[in-house]
Amino acid sequence: MTRYLISNWKMNGDRASAAAYVAALSEKLATVPKGLKMVFCPPVGLLESVRQSTPPGSRITLGAQDCHHATHGAFTGEISAAMLKDLGVTYVILGHSERRAMGETDEMVFAKAGAALNAGLTPILCVGEQRAAYDAGKTFETVGKQVELLKSLKSGDYLIAYEPVWAIGSSQTPQMAEISAAHQYIKTVLGSRVPVLYGGSVNVGNIGEILALREVSGALIGGASLENEQMAAMIDIASKK
Ligand code: PGA
Repeated sequence: MTRYLISNWKMNGDRASAAAYVAALSEKLATVPKGLKMVFCPPVGLLESVRQSTPPGSRITLGAQDCHHATHGAFTGEISAAMLKDLGVTYVILGHSERRAMGETDEMVFAKAGAALNAGLTPILCVGEQRAAYDAGKTFETVGKQVELLKSLKSGDYLIAYEPVWAIGSSQTPQMAEISAAHQYIKTVLGSRVPVLYGGSVNVGNIGEILALREVSGALIGGASLENEQMAAMIDIASKK
């Protein structure tokens, strides 16, 4: 089974740190079984320099953190999926909770997913409940609404990242049984072939336990993905799961 490690740098890093990162992690990835895939999602302004500094034969795949739903036009500050493709990008994170917090809706995420697929990108679609919904036992209900539109997409064309909003950058995670259940629920709704990744305070200490869960196909890692050594250690752990 393919396992995915998505490194989401958010708005962090520069050309030098990203170049050192891809050099170190390409070396690390060369030592682990092929079933492990690493997708590096730096800020959009670093994509070109990352592509250029990635050593030939590297197993690191390039990802972006967002795209616009339109192919081109008067959208100041935005970037289209085709432009990302042209930059050598393969994956794109869509609907991250930090973007939903800026007003992105399920409909917008769905439109972006269509644009990404049309351009030949693989969307990594983020879903997850707020703390209040978790506390109220409404995780499935919330996630169910978020994935409703995605039912029309072909399974196998995209990945889901289940990221409880309250777990992101908080050092808190759900119980392992809750992670399992949420992943199972998403697979029941969207199909068992859809890879579902977990995200939210994944680190060297908990990634082994999380990836040991049968329903979990990988991890989307924010803060802990920024450091070369931590990411290398997580690659090691993930390669043994
Ligand atoms: P975190 O971020 O690992 O820092 O919690 C995860 C994410 O936002 O995707």
